[in-house]
Amino acid sequence: MSTSDGTLYGASIAKRLHGKVAIITGGASGIGESTARLFVRHGAKVVIADIQDDLGQSVCKDVDPAGQTICYIHCDVTKEADVENLVGSTMVKYGKLDIMYNNAGISGELGSSVADTNFEDFKRVLDVNVLGSFLGAKHAARVMIPAKKGCILFTSSVASIIAGETPNAYTTSKHAIVGLTKNLCVELGQYGIRVNCISPFALATPLLTAAVNMKPSTLEAAVYESAVLKGTLITVEDISEAALYLSSEESKYVSGLNLVVDGGYTTSNPTLSMSLSKFEVELAN
Ligand SMILES: NC(=O)c1ccc[n+]([C@@H]2O[C@H](COP(=O)([O-])OP(=O)(O)OC[C@H]3O[C@@H](n4cnc5c(N)ncnc54)[C@H](O)[C@@H]3O)[C@@H](O)[C@H]2O)c1
Repeated sequence: MSTSDGTLYGASIAKRLHGKVAIITGGASGIGESTARLFVRHGAKVVIADIQDDLGQSVCKDVDPAGQTICYIHCDVTKEADVENLVGSTMVKYGKLDIMYNNAGISGELGSSVADTNFEDFKRVLDVNVLGSFLGAKHAARVMIPAKKGCILFTSSVASIIAGETPNAYTTSKHAIVGLTKNLCVELGQYGIRVNCISPFALATPLLTAAVNMKPSTLEAAVYESAVLKGTLITVEDISEAALYLSSEESKYVSGLNLVVDGGYTTSNPTLSMSLSKFEVELAN
């Protein structure tokens, strides 16, 4: 039972997405799954879209066995017919779309130099990360424009700020997401639609653990070690909280933002000081 402002009786959380309808692509795993869980806790009706059907359905069952607040739709974001069906089915089920979170992404092959980059791998990364995100925004805009409101979100990456740590295709794709965010912010502002993206630092989700071939715990130890902000470890929930902020009324005048969630990682470049300390050790010997 909730009050008119969405505050639960007997519970301390205010439901910041009370009555909202959200689609989350890549919602079967990692950031998307965590965000789906948080959005439901905050009163949203959530549609998870992914290509991992069993996983997506099991997330829905786990969140809400009765299926009242969350459902799964198969959608390969690189296929326009799938994306059109995703938005259309959501409109049929709920009659509106308030939040479109274009989060699905892949890393592509790590470690390839420009000279030996595989054509198909480069194209696939751009197809999923850029074209897939664009198609989500396109079909969301079609229903948000007549409603004269809406929120479009993307997951970019710290690879939109710093270069050289991820493959060419991935870095290119995540820069493109920031460009798309800004262009759509300007185009869709006249309709009251806000467009933002989030740039996370490294997270031990299947995307990254598979790419670097590491156990989540080992990867987390490496991330913890390399972080600028000490004493805490980045988690998928940190990104979900950013998505919640950008999807809720608390950010009603925020549009065109790349919200970097990296504990200051991209603010620093420690390579010179690391090199200097190496030389100091050599001089001392
Ligand atoms: N993990 C990180 O370190 C990190 C850092 C910065 C940004 N990101 C970005 O976060 C987003 C989510 O990734 P994650 O880390 O949660 O990884 P993840 O692998 O846990 O989740 C990605 C999801 O996207 C889905 N997906 C892949 N291709 C798809 C397609 N064609 N159509 C629909 N769904 C598809 C996958 O099935 C998976 O469920 C991605 O855009 C990624 O680039 C991740």
